[in-house]
Amino acid sequence: MNKPAPTPADLIDPIRERWSPRAFDPSQAVAPELLNEVLEAARWAPSCFNEQPWRFLVFGKDDALRPDVEACLNPTNQWACQASHLLVICAMKQFAKNEKDNRHAAYDTGAATLALILQAQSKGLASHQMAGFKREELETLLQIPVQAECLSVMALGYECEAKEEAGLSPEHLEKEKGPRMRKELAQIASSGQVWSF
Ligand SMILES: Cc1cc2nc3c(=O)[nH]c(=O)nc-3n(C[C@H](O)[C@H](O)[C@H](O)COP(=O)(O)O)c2cc1C
Repeated sequence: MNKPAPTPADLIDPIRERWSPRAFDPSQAVAPELLNEVLEAARWAPSCFNEQPWRFLVFGKDDALRPDVEACLNPTNQWACQASHLLVICAMKQFAKNEKDNRHAAYDTGAATLALILQAQSKGLASHQMAGFKREELETLLQIPVQAECLSVMALGYECEAKEEAGLSPEHLEKEKGPRMRKELAQIASSGQVWSF
C-alpha cells in the first residue's frame, strides 16, 4: 500500500515512500543477507566522536527468545508479532574512552536507526518503531547492562497488503488507511531569528 508523504517537495524516494504500517505479512521472512545489509546501513551513520553508541538486538521468528520479546510489547503493539523480525534498539549511555555521559547517545542511535530504515525502505521492507514496551522487563530479559538503555523496538518485515486479513483492531485498521499528518514547516524550522515556535 502506497502512502507517500503528501508534499510537493522533491524528496528522495525512500523518504517520500516510508511510512509505518501495522499490518505485516507473517509468511514472508527477511533474508539474512538483506538483514545484514540494513544493519550495515546503520553502521555507517554519523555519531558524536564516532562513538557508534547504537546496539541492535535482532530476533527472527525462530529465535528462542522471540516469544519473550513479544510478551514485552504493550497490548496495543501486539500487531508487531506478525513481522519477520523485531529489533531491540539500545544505546550505550557513556563514552567508552572516559566513561563520561554521552548526551548524544540517543540522538546518534536515532540517526543510525533512520539509516537502517531508509535502506530497508529502498529494498522493499517495511518498518515500524515502538516506544510502547515494558522497558524494565525487556532489559532484564535481554541482560542489557546498566551502561546501556533500550530506546525502542522495531518491527521489520514485509507489509501485508491484505489489510482486512491482517488481524488489526478496527482502530488500527482505520489508522492504517488514514492520511499522513505532519506539522507545517514553519512550526519546526525558522530562519535568521531567535526561537519563535
Ligand atoms: C520512537 C518512536 C516510538 C513509537 N512508538 C510507537 C508505538 O509504541 N506504537 C505505534 O503503533 N507506533 C509507534 N510509533 C510510530 C509513530 O506513531 C509514527 O512514526 C508516526 O505516527 C508517523 O507516522 P509514519 O511513520 O507513518 O510517518 C513510534 C515511532 C517512534 C519514532
